[in-house]
Amino acid sequence: MTETATASSTETDGQSLTVRDNRTGTEYDVPIVDGAIKAADLGKIRTDEESPGLAVYDPGFVNTASCRSSVTFIDGDKGILEYRGYPIEQLAENSTFLEVAYLLIHGELPSREEYEAWVHEITYHTFVHENVKGFMEGFRYDAHPMGILMASVGALSTFYPESRNIADADNRHMQIVRMIAKMPTLGAWAFRNAQGKPYVYPDNELSYTENFLAMLFKMSEKKFHADERLVKALDVLFILHADHEQNCSTNAVRSVGSSQVDPYSAVAAGVAALYGPLHGGANEAVLRMLRRIGSVENVPSFIEGVKSGNERLMGFGHRVYKNYDPRAKIIKKACDDVFEVTGVNPLLQIAQELEKIALEDEYFVKRKLYPNVDFYSGLIYEALQFPPEMFTVLFAIGRTPGWLAQWLELVQDPEQKIARPKQIYTGERRLDFVPREQRWS
Ligand code: CMC
Repeated sequence: MTETATASSTETDGQSLTVRDNRTGTEYDVPIVDGAIKAADLGKIRTDEESPGLAVYDPGFVNTASCRSSVTFIDGDKGILEYRGYPIEQLAENSTFLEVAYLLIHGELPSREEYEAWVHEITYHTFVHENVKGFMEGFRYDAHPMGILMASVGALSTFYPESRNIADADNRHMQIVRMIAKMPTLGAWAFRNAQGKPYVYPDNELSYTENFLAMLFKMSEKKFHADERLVKALDVLFILHADHEQNCSTNAVRSVGSSQVDPYSAVAAGVAALYGPLHGGANEAVLRMLRRIGSVENVPSFIEGVKSGNERLMGFGHRVYKNYDPRAKIIKKACDDVFEVTGVNPLLQIAQELEKIALEDEYFVKRKLYPNVDFYSGLIYEALQFPPEMFTVLFAIGRTPGWLAQWLELVQDPEQKIARPKQIYTGERRLDFVPREQRWS
């Protein structure tokens, strides 16, 4: 017997998968749409009316698409990354972070008027309520800036209670502008808190990225100005981190956002996910590794340690990219620009030697291990005087437009539902409760 599970033939272009359930002998035609089958169609496969339908077990969503998205395209085998169809190389070379943010949020590049209005809006929402400063001061001197950022982004929802009204397009726009604008202010203040230095208010005469540097590093000077090559390098790093399709933190934003909570709370979940060492923390590990290697002469023995399984070459390898991470290529170039201003970080030589040897070595070639975005970014951040705890905050500022573009897509997508995965229950059933007096006697 053959049964067909939903979707019209126009949607599927006639493509389908035939599944035979060997428990019952029934065959099912499961439609294939855009190279995927619907998990719900497999749910129709059951041994009888009473039994649960077939489920898909996929810890970590390694092969499960959770949404349709038109924000970011990645081809990991070819090393391609595109935002809204534009190659990352062209955006990094010719665009600005705020223009890329506009592109991600609106889906297309802005006209001159649209760009100017967008930059104006973002610039004039950089200030935060004075009470934010008050509660930030309440964190201990050694509070991690990512912990402060996560808490303060979430707290913004209490300052803008209207943000709950996510069905209203103007309201959504307002919160998106506020969040992109205020993230650098919150990140910079988290940094100043750790240093015991007074918080610096935004300077609306500066560009987005230069203003961020001013809030971080300004002391008693009347006006802060950074070298424009450093501003450009940091702007490029923000562009490179702006989105990366359904990674762990974006998935967290979408999952929490699917409950229809306000966007500040959803983005706070994204910051929390990014805080974890498997996601936002690898560049810090690269720096530690380079310091441990210590000099170029020690590189061959370190590589031998990696090949024998005693070490991991941090900043190499990626779940999606099985080719040179396109972001790593751009960062390598930005390194040259930054070191021209700051002087060369002595660790660069070690990193270059590691890359040279690894790219020729069979162990790495066979496993398709190439430098990823984190291999060189830590060197730049260090040259820009950031302590390692701030690296993930920089990532969060860059990723904010991506999180918001994905959130916007989610709340407007009629196919989306509240995120609620299935489980395979492995525990006990129907135990009889024994009261404490009997258990303990
Ligand atoms: N050094 C040495 N061997 C490695 C490395 C590495 N960095 N990465 C993977 N391998 C080996 C691994 O041992 C395995 O070998 P075998 O087949 O002999 O067991 C093989 O390559 C496949 O590795 P995997 O761990 O199954 O690959 P994965 O897709 O699960 O892991 C990864 C991806 C990024 C976690 C991993 O490559 C890694 O730990 N890299 C170092 C940490 C790092 O740089 N992370 C930043 C990722 S980019 C940030 C972002 O985009 O958000």
